[in-house]
Amino acid sequence: MIGRLNHIGIATPDVEKAAKTWLALYGAGDAHDAFDMPAQGVRVKFIDLPNSQIELIEPLGENSPLDAFLAKNPAGGQHHICFEVEDIIKTRDNMRAKGARVLGTGEPRIGAHGTPVIFMHPKDSGGVLVELMQSPQEKTQ
Ligand code: CO
Repeated sequence: MIGRLNHIGIATPDVEKAAKTWLALYGAGDAHDAFDMPAQGVRVKFIDLPNSQIELIEPLGENSPLDAFLAKNPAGGQHHICFEVEDIIKTRDNMRAKGARVLGTGEPRIGAHGTPVIFMHPKDSGGVLVELMQSPQEKTQ
């Protein structure tokens, strides 16, 4: 069973510029320092909200998984939503047994919060790309 909404992923050509909009226009909470995730081909910047976070993601390097998305949405756009789960492997296996498709190999990778994550096929979720992440032991970001 899925748990808490951890973050909403928003693709953008420029995380710093996007962060300014969320802070200045919407009065969103603190922005964390941006950091690179070369293995995932993204640069990430989190913004804290009272009950969740916004994860701004920008392409990093060649062949970023965001390239195709930004080709279709040059100004950026809502990219995925991320829910916490208690046990990523158990959740994956349960969902697969029900016919859901996991993107890639299906083996969890380490996500932006340092815990294992998987992505579920949008066609199984009404067109929404869903990231599932193992709940962090303690909130550090
Ligand atoms: Co995410």
